[in-house]
Amino acid sequence: MLSSDNSNQERQSLHGNWSSRLAFIMAVTGSAVGLGNIWKFPYMAGQNGGGAFVLVYLLFVFLIGMPVMMSEILIGRRGRRNPVATMALLGEEEGGSKHWKWLGALGVITAMLILSYYSVIAGWTLTYIPKAISGQFTGADAALIADLFDDFVGNPTAVISAHTFFMFLNFFVISRGVKGLEVAVKFLMPALLFLLFVLLYYSVTSGSFSEGVSFMFTPNFAALSWDGVLTAMGLACFTLSIGMGAIMAYGAYLPQETSITNAAVSVVVADTGIAVLSGLVIFPLVFANGLNPGEGPDLVFKTLPLVFGQMQAGVFLATIFFVLLAFAALTSALGLMEPAVAWMVESTNYNRKASSAIIASLIWFFGLGTALSDNLLSEFKFFQGTIYENVDFITSNIMLPMSAVFITIFAAWVMSKNSSSEELDGHGFVYKIWQLLARYFAPIAILVIFLQAIGWI
Ligand code: TRP
Repeated sequence: MLSSDNSNQERQSLHGNWSSRLAFIMAVTGSAVGLGNIWKFPYMAGQNGGGAFVLVYLLFVFLIGMPVMMSEILIGRRGRRNPVATMALLGEEEGGSKHWKWLGALGVITAMLILSYYSVIAGWTLTYIPKAISGQFTGADAALIADLFDDFVGNPTAVISAHTFFMFLNFFVISRGVKGLEVAVKFLMPALLFLLFVLLYYSVTSGSFSEGVSFMFTPNFAALSWDGVLTAMGLACFTLSIGMGAIMAYGAYLPQETSITNAAVSVVVADTGIAVLSGLVIFPLVFANGLNPGEGPDLVFKTLPLVFGQMQAGVFLATIFFVLLAFAALTSALGLMEPAVAWMVESTNYNRKASSAIIASLIWFFGLGTALSDNLLSEFKFFQGTIYENVDFITSNIMLPMSAVFITIFAAWVMSKNSSSEELDGHGFVYKIWQLLARYFAPIAILVIFLQAIGWI
C-alpha cells in the first residue's frame, strides 16, 4: 500500500527498495552508461571540433548535470511513485498544484522518443556481433570497413530487422520485470570497462595517441558554435539519463538513509570516465588511419572494427566488445522504457505484459523513421537534417534541457527547504552548493544557452 502520510519517512514504494546503496549506484550507472558514452560522445566531440566541446561538456556535467541529478533523486525518493504520480503528489504537497504531473508526463514521452532511435543504433551494434564472429574485420583497411558499414545501413531490411530484434529483447526483459538485470549489470559493466582499457592499450601504441589527446583536450573555441554548446549541454543531460524522470523512478526505491550526494557523485564520475575513455580510444585511431573525426554517427563503427581487424585476438575481442556494447545499450533501453510501462501498469487496466507490448510497438513504429534515415528516406530532410537528426535534436537539445530547468525549479524553489534539506542531509556545505547551482546557475545557464542557440539573444 502507498502511504498518503505527509512524512516521507513512512512513505514506501509499491515496488520495494534497492537492497543497498551499491545496488542503486549500479542500476543508475547501468542506465547512464550506454550508447551515449561510447557512440554519441566521440562522434559529437568530433563533429564539434574536439577540445572546446569536451571542456564545455565536462563543465555541464558537473555544474548542471550533477545538481539536476541530485534534484531528480530527491524528488523521486520523496514521492516514491512513478514520475507522473510523484510530481502530482509532491506538486500538491509542496506547491499546491498537481499540474506538475505534466512535467513527469513530458519525461515519459521524451524517453520513448529517445528509445525510438536508440533501438536502431543498438540494432547496428547487434549486427556487428555476427560480423565480428565471422572475421569480417580481419585485415580490412579503412575503405573496406567503411563499405561494410555503408552497405549495412543502406539496406532498410537489415536495419529494420535489427531494430525489431532489439525492441523484442526489450519487450522480453521488461515484460518480466527487471529482476536479474541488476546482477548482470554488476558483471558486465566492469567487463566493458576492462575491454575499453585493452583497446586503450592499442590506441596508445597506434602512433597517433598524442594527436588524439590534443584533439580532445586542446580547446579551440573558434571551432565551437552556440549550436555546439547546446549539443554539449544536451549530451550532458542525455548521458546522465536526466531530464526525463528515469532517475526519479530509480530514486523512488532508494533507502532513506543513503546519501544522495555520494550516490550522484559516483554515478557522474563513472559515466564521465567511460565517455572520456572511449574518446581516448577512438580519436588516436581516427588520426592513425587518416579518418575524419567529424564523420558523424558512423564514427565508432568505422574506427573500432579497423583496430580489431589488426589485433592478434581481434575476432574474439571484437565479438566481446559488441556483445558488451549491446548489453550496455540494453540496460539503458530498459531504463528508457520502464517509466512508460510503469505509468501504464499503474494507470490503466492493462497488465505488465500487455503494457510492455503496446509501448514497445509504439516505440518500434517511431523508430522506423530513424531506421530509414540512411536509406529510403535519406533524401527526406527537414530543418536540413534527417529524421534521426531531428528527433535527436528535439529530444536532447530541447526537451531534456527544458525538463531539467523545471526539475531544478521544482526542487530548489517550489519544495520547502525543510523537505529538500531532509533528503540532502541537512543544511551543510554540500546543500548550499546544490542550492546555488539548482536555484540559479543551472536554470539560468540552460535558458541562456538555449536562447542563444536558437538565435533569440
Ligand atoms: N544515458 C544513456 C546513454 O548514455 C541514455 C539515456 C538517456 C537513458 N536517458 C535515459 C537511459 C534514461 C536510461 C534512462 O546511453
